[in-house]
Amino acid sequence: MADTLHDREPPRIQLANQPTRGHWLRYGESLGPRFWLKRDDHTGSELMGNKVRKLEYLMADALAEKATHVFSCGGEQSNHARATAFAARQLGMESVLILRTDDPEQPPAATGNILLDKLVGSEIVWISRPAWRNRNQLLAEQADRIRAAGGRPYVVPEGGSNALGSWGYIRAMHELASDLSTIASPSNPVTVVYACGSGGTGAGLVMGAKLFGLAAKGIRIAGVNVCDDRAYFLDVIGKICSDMESRWSLGANVTAEDIELVDGHVGAGYAKSRPEELMTIRDLCRSDGVVLDPVYTGKAFHGVVTELKRDPKRFGSTVAFIHTGGMFGLFPSYDLFTPLL
Ligand SMILES: Cc1ncc(COP(=O)(O)O)c(C=O)c1O
Repeated sequence: MADTLHDREPPRIQLANQPTRGHWLRYGESLGPRFWLKRDDHTGSELMGNKVRKLEYLMADALAEKATHVFSCGGEQSNHARATAFAARQLGMESVLILRTDDPEQPPAATGNILLDKLVGSEIVWISRPAWRNRNQLLAEQADRIRAAGGRPYVVPEGGSNALGSWGYIRAMHELASDLSTIASPSNPVTVVYACGSGGTGAGLVMGAKLFGLAAKGIRIAGVNVCDDRAYFLDVIGKICSDMESRWSLGANVTAEDIELVDGHVGAGYAKSRPEELMTIRDLCRSDGVVLDPVYTGKAFHGVVTELKRDPKRFGSTVAFIHTGGMFGLFPSYDLFTPLL
């Protein structure tokens, strides 16, 4: 087990390369604030992105439970499902992934994350969009199947976004506090911006910011939701934070005012891209040699750019954008990029 962050921190197994580095961007000089990028896309290669930080706690729990099979679910190109499958394999466990697709009878081509899921030998159960509503029940049924065959299942929820997984972003917030110590102050406020997809990253960041008293140091946290809406994520993030309080009594006292969500940038829908979002991905790549993904980071970053065009002071002196990974999800969209290149 690695070093301890907090006296109530649950057991963790080291999977991510951390601390991740941060650096300034050339992009967006005319937009108002400076952009600084936290490279959580560098947490690993097969295990790349924000999910790895959550899996450090979830997989420690799976090992403690002597699990033989790890289960999770997500969209067809789920980064979380891929990271879970690789973490399980690296730790000597099997994985079963319940993935949502338009027509389970005709599963999508094995590109991007799906190719990796198959390479690592994960069992994939394809389900339709209507069946997704019963995903937790399906996960429980699949787990029963393994139990009946003598295995020990461990279920990781969608996105790894529960109270345990969210510890990964309390830890990340601790790193960020140190990264930003010479950048942020009450007179030079910094907004840490992240893409919000299932709420666990946001819950950990908000809890961490409260625990480490970062508002007084000029650091504020804002999520750009890439699906659903502000009301949905206020509820989801609020619930994860209160679960963390009831399990570990951290005394962070997170309230709805602490949970800032920048709504209005879902665009064409979850995992659906508009040309302007893809152009922002292209432009950042051409200014700084940094690749965002179309589903999460590209959409959220484009949301920040759109907000700054309306109000350059919206996020203070610096936007500290967390690059939460997702690069494998870029490749299935190659045909959308082709006319822009
Ligand atoms: C690359 C990437 N960024 C951001 C997110 C959003 O994180 P969270 O699910 O914790 O809200 C996800 C997953 O949902 C992701 O795969």
